[in-house]
Amino acid sequence: MLLSDPPDHTRLRRLVARAFTPRRVAALAPHIQDVTDALVTAMLAAEDRRADLVEALAYPLRMTVICELLGIPDLDRDAFRGWSDEITAPTGAEAARAAQAEAVPYLGGLIAAKRAAPADDLLSDLIHTVDEGGDRMSEDELLSMALLLLLAGHESTVNFLCKGVRALFAHPDQFALLRSDLDGLVEGAVEEMLRYDAPVETAPPRVAVEPVEIGGRHVPAGAVVLIVLGDAGRDPARFTAPGRFDIRRTGTGDRGHLAFGHGVHYCLGAPLARLEGRIVFRTLLSRCPTLGPDGRSGGRFSGLFAQGERKVPVRW
Ligand code: HEM
Repeated sequence: MLLSDPPDHTRLRRLVARAFTPRRVAALAPHIQDVTDALVTAMLAAEDRRADLVEALAYPLRMTVICELLGIPDLDRDAFRGWSDEITAPTGAEAARAAQAEAVPYLGGLIAAKRAAPADDLLSDLIHTVDEGGDRMSEDELLSMALLLLLAGHESTVNFLCKGVRALFAHPDQFALLRSDLDGLVEGAVEEMLRYDAPVETAPPRVAVEPVEIGGRHVPAGAVVLIVLGDAGRDPARFTAPGRFDIRRTGTGDRGHLAFGHGVHYCLGAPLARLEGRIVFRTLLSRCPTLGPDGRSGGRFSGLFAQGERKVPVRW
């Protein structure tokens, strides 16, 4: 779906949107809250009052939520993490192919099990969704969609939580402001984090099917266009003082960013990512008011569409 054009894209998006509904996302809120509470409790039990936020919170939360949504709580997370890292940030073409070759039959098995025993979850719905014209996803499309849903929101959400925390640490005044009115400011803070440091820096490469003018530049037919979403968030023609991290910005009319893309491929998971962000930051900051950075970062990764921290060491 991510790489297809209309009418193929329209068809797939319509089918998945029938299953990935706002009601399904909203119903996940209590579960996301419970998982976040449990992870923060476990993290705060560390006697040395130190943790890596990626391992302690961002990664397990992300995996638990997506598995719950899809209805595959028994996913082999260690194996999947290896495949997923290799597919989204390949160490080499051969290794990436090998990861896909293992992930696809594994997911095929999960889909077969779900087909045999359907439940109230997204994967069951995707298997059984039929539109007005009697259309449904083929087996290959189902596999590809399950892999996309597992991967699309994986690196991006982990990166979002890590970049958001880093932005707060780098701006103590905004950090203090947010803590002073978590309920009132968390929504704006999440939007500002997405604008200030886009978790997905570039959209997948696009090819111009006809000549087009963009921002006064001529793009000939056939040219490859790489849209840098992160730069769009720092555009001085769009945002006042774009380099300033200001969690009240959305309240001042400076709305809108491209962190979730734009147009037909606009992120399907945006409502879920926003919900996770609001719950995580509200919970983490209210339960851990002295949270701060613990020394240097633990190295960076460079993926297909994003770069980010492998570790975010914190103390409290
Ligand atoms: C903060 C977290 C996230 C960010 C920043 C993000 C960002 C994006 C962006 C920029 C695109 C559009 C790429 C393009 O122009 O082609 C996209 C597409 C997509 N995202 Fe997300 N995403 C996030 C979380 C999620 C989650 C949690 C899910 C699912 C559970 C998800 C599922 C998808 C899917 C399926 C698409 C493809 C949509 C299509 O091609 O029609 N994303 N995302």
